Amino acid sequence: MANILVTGGAGFIGSHTCLVLLSHGHNLVVIDDLSNSSSVALERVAKLAGVGFGKERLQLIRCDIRDQAKLEAVFTSKANCSSQLEAVIHFAGLKAVSESVAKPLHYWDVNVSGSTALLAAMEAHECRTIVFSSTSTVYGEPEFFPLTESTPTNPIHPYAQTKLAVEQILGSLAIAGPWRSACLRYFNPVGAHPSGSIGEDPLGVPNNLFPYITQIAAGRHEKLRVFGDDYLTDDGTGIRDYLHVMDLAEAHAAALDHMLQSRAPLNLTLNLGTGKGLSVMNVVHGFEAATGVTIPYEMVGRRAGDVPKLEACPKKAEKILGWKAKRSLADMCRDGWAWQSANPNGYRGSK
Ligand code: UFG
Repeated sequence: MANILVTGGAGFIGSHTCLVLLSHGHNLVVIDDLSNSSSVALERVAKLAGVGFGKERLQLIRCDIRDQAKLEAVFTSKANCSSQLEAVIHFAGLKAVSESVAKPLHYWDVNVSGSTALLAAMEAHECRTIVFSSTSTVYGEPEFFPLTESTPTNPIHPYAQTKLAVEQILGSLAIAGPWRSACLRYFNPVGAHPSGSIGEDPLGVPNNLFPYITQIAAGRHEKLRVFGDDYLTDDGTGIRDYLHVMDLAEAHAAALDHMLQSRAPLNLTLNLGTGKGLSVMNVVHGFEAATGVTIPYEMVGRRAGDVPKLEACPKKAEKILGWKAKRSLADMCRDGWAWQSANPNGYRGSK
């Protein structure tokens, strides 16, 4: 049991991870600016975990990670009540690829300056254990598969560049002092907690495939536009390694335990995926089979910046953490639909 600071803990992956961490007995302080997330997610996490919201086990503080003074005050106030923060799970950041191309300075500011402010506050309070949200997009457009952690990185947009920059900062810190860090390179997290009470709730029209599909099923959009059917893949549509968000949440708990148990400095980089790529049409048909809901679609041209294929080699995570994705595409679709059908408009308007 440890006292953990979770940045961005009200978001999609953050809220699911908070639930798993609570079930492991950890006490959580979430900081989130709520710019693309909702406090309702954490109220529901508290309910699912059977803990009080805003009490000792799960607190939420509204804070921008660039606000170093406020971050330091959070560390100080926890230390003053003998519940010193021992580790950080760092989700907070911006994640829309096309927005990052349009607003690169904003991405470098929030993702990189925000992370350095957080790391400086951690250093000042001798809290030097961190799990960081990175991304498979650091590999760019790779030629050889599956992707291992030693596949060369080649970030092709500011979103991936900023994530890789933070990985590099964590590498420098591990050389300079006793830091323990784990950079988790997520492939494509989808689905929801099986209760259907928490899930993905993007602002505006979703950019990503899976929430777009669940919102079509909920009647919010007419049809899916499949971006490209002329890739060199079996059915011509793009391939990604989709993994269930609960598997991903469990990987964070395993990474945290691994680091808390390690006496030596660590700087780990781990791919988190299933190792099995699926095409856009595999996902569409998988969703239809799992839910019985038809997803109308049309083939359109490729989306700028998309790569044909990303697929993980997840063996290092299994070897080091003993973690392996265990949920199927059918689980991802059933649970994602449980969330969207119970919350057609996400957290908005709900209590
Ligand atoms: N796609 C469509 N139609 C859509 C949306 C997506 O055909 O309306 C296709 C894309 O062309 C791609 C696949 O579905 O082939 C997956 O696209 P996503 O937008 O869901 O995900 P990306 O692989 O582009 O990855 C992005 C970020 C990742 C992040 C991931 C999930 O780059 O960092 O979304 O959030 F992990």
